[in-house]
Amino acid sequence: MIYAGILAGGVGNRMGVTSMPKQFLSVGGVPIIIHTIQKFLMCSRIDHIYVAVVKDYVSHMNDILRKAIGDTDRVTVIEGGADRNGSIVNVISEIRKTDSSDDNILITHDAVRPFISARIIEENIDAALKYGATDTVIPATDTIIRSANGEKLDDIPVRDELYNGQTPQTFRINWFEEDYGALDDAQKAILTDACKIFTLAGRYVRMVKGDSYNMKITTPFDLRLAEAIVAEEFCHD
Ligand code: CTP
Repeated sequence: MIYAGILAGGVGNRMGVTSMPKQFLSVGGVPIIIHTIQKFLMCSRIDHIYVAVVKDYVSHMNDILRKAIGDTDRVTVIEGGADRNGSIVNVISEIRKTDSSDDNILITHDAVRPFISARIIEENIDAALKYGATDTVIPATDTIIRSANGEKLDDIPVRDELYNGQTPQTFRINWFEEDYGALDDAQKAILTDACKIFTLAGRYVRMVKGDSYNMKITTPFDLRLAEAIVAEEFCHD
């Protein structure tokens, strides 16, 4: 089976909006998270979609979902975890209530990347089925500077070998269970990226080409950019 986990357990501190977590803010009059879920609903290969949201927003999420797409048995809203991997753990626990197979794949995606394309979803699924784990990336365009103390420039790594990580990150569920389960609490607190856990465990992680539109909405500037993208999409309709 192929499952999607939409990760929406964060509060969006960097957005600086106190009224609600950023994934519930609207762009083009529609909540960001609804844009995202709709992209996954359009992929018929995905058997079920789990949406992990901040605890106090489970019923709000169910309300806006019903309003946007009506009643569906393809989406289940659950509580998110204390950190991003905690939200993945909650999604997997929910899946395990009905499916104990070792062959299933989970495509995890940030709720706040609403402009994901069908191509990126399809390529994640294909590569995860073939290789076991994928990360979505775009080549770095800025020169990246490394500094340990934030004052002295230590190094400028070769840009051709650098990429920006996006999502989805897609993987065999049993790999995540094995590798995340092997970490102690201190490691879990540091290793916040699922693919980093796989690489440390010696797994081969296949890169899938992302795109700039698959941006993460983090700051008020990103929100303005997202509004502009949606306005442009409407122009093309
Ligand atoms: N996320 C999650 N569970 C958490 C924390 C984050 O599912 N406990 C999700 C967020 O909701 C978001 C994605 O992970 O969709 C990427 O995280 P980020 O952009 O850092 O979101 P926030 O943690 O909400 O933002 P901030 O760091 O500004 O508070």
